[in-house]
Amino acid sequence: MKSTNPNSNHLPLVKVAMPPREKLLPNLEKVLYSGMIAEGEYVYQFESEFAGSFGLPIAIATSSGSAALHIALILSEIGNGDEVITTSMTAEPTNMVILQSGATPVFADIDCQTGNLDPDSVESLISERTKAIVVVHYAGFPANLKSLRFLADKYGIVLIEDCAHALGATYNGKNIGTFGDYAIFSFQAIKHMTTVDGGVLTMRDLTKAKKAKRLRWFGMPKGVPRTKLDVSHIGFKYNMNNVSAVIGLSQLENIHQLIKKHIENGIFFDNEIGNISGFEITKIDVCSKPSYWIYTLLTDQSDSIIKCLGDIGVVASKLHRPNHLHSLFTPYRRNLPGLDSYYKRLVHIPCGWWVSQEKRELIVETLKSM
Ligand SMILES: Cc1ncc(COP(=O)(O)O)c(C=O)c1O
Repeated sequence: MKSTNPNSNHLPLVKVAMPPREKLLPNLEKVLYSGMIAEGEYVYQFESEFAGSFGLPIAIATSSGSAALHIALILSEIGNGDEVITTSMTAEPTNMVILQSGATPVFADIDCQTGNLDPDSVESLISERTKAIVVVHYAGFPANLKSLRFLADKYGIVLIEDCAHALGATYNGKNIGTFGDYAIFSFQAIKHMTTVDGGVLTMRDLTKAKKAKRLRWFGMPKGVPRTKLDVSHIGFKYNMNNVSAVIGLSQLENIHQLIKKHIENGIFFDNEIGNISGFEITKIDVCSKPSYWIYTLLTDQSDSIIKCLGDIGVVASKLHRPNHLHSLFTPYRRNLPGLDSYYKRLVHIPCGWWVSQEKRELIVETLKSM
């Protein structure tokens, strides 16, 4: 319960960002008592503003990032017996959804300096059964999209970007989410932006949008009387509701300023930590601009650094467990030397909007003294 005390000196690794009460609550009250709390006009307004704000061709709002990813896999016609090349260095939903689709997750290795998929490893695993590559921009650092896009085109497979950690990151001057055939975003509680829970699916081929919208609502089109429509395919309860959309619309008013704070802190740490001996910072491609959801540093002393920062009230951790280590994924385990090295040396530290100048300097001084 310590982390919920606003007066605590404790610096969390992740934190919920809510718009100021006076801005959010009047709009929330309006929608809550409007009689229209399910999917409706606020959702469609949110979709349009989100797409505009992040340079996406379309935004289809969902109940979660996982739901958006599931729809992307179905639209890619992935099912039993198909293989999806993916990363183990991610939150569990990425790979859980691949299993839910009936496909086999094939874990490619990662680059031990970036934490992201290594395109050479990906290419070595492409088989006749490979239908897609799911690439995660881990911790907010864009993956090597140029090489992965090239591989997807070369082998005629689908590229799906999991942008859950990387809202606002860019690659070659373009927003992430615009390189894949599909891309998903998550608005779960602790992401850059939250709608309590929610997600967005975007896509290159807009002719798939109609099917995507049916998939998110039990296979039915909206706006047609139930007695007059025909359900011909399985669909899901994956739609966003108006209440989440109102929170999302409020969040969008400040999202770029908030992401800017993550980036300022991230660049500060890059400059400072990069110069401390015994520490390595995440290698960043010259053409990519991360959005630093959480900061990633690499050190041979990861356990003692985590403990030492904990002693001064700064929560540092490895945050995730490589997914292939879960017993569920035992059948898909393979040798991943790049991941082993990265994970052993990994330390995540807070760098979001809640990290003040004073706190970030304290972190750097503490690391220097180690
Ligand atoms: C990398 C990654 N992908 C997908 C998801 C799924 O998002 P959601 O929790 O909105 O379903 C998450 C978040 O939990 C995530 O961290």
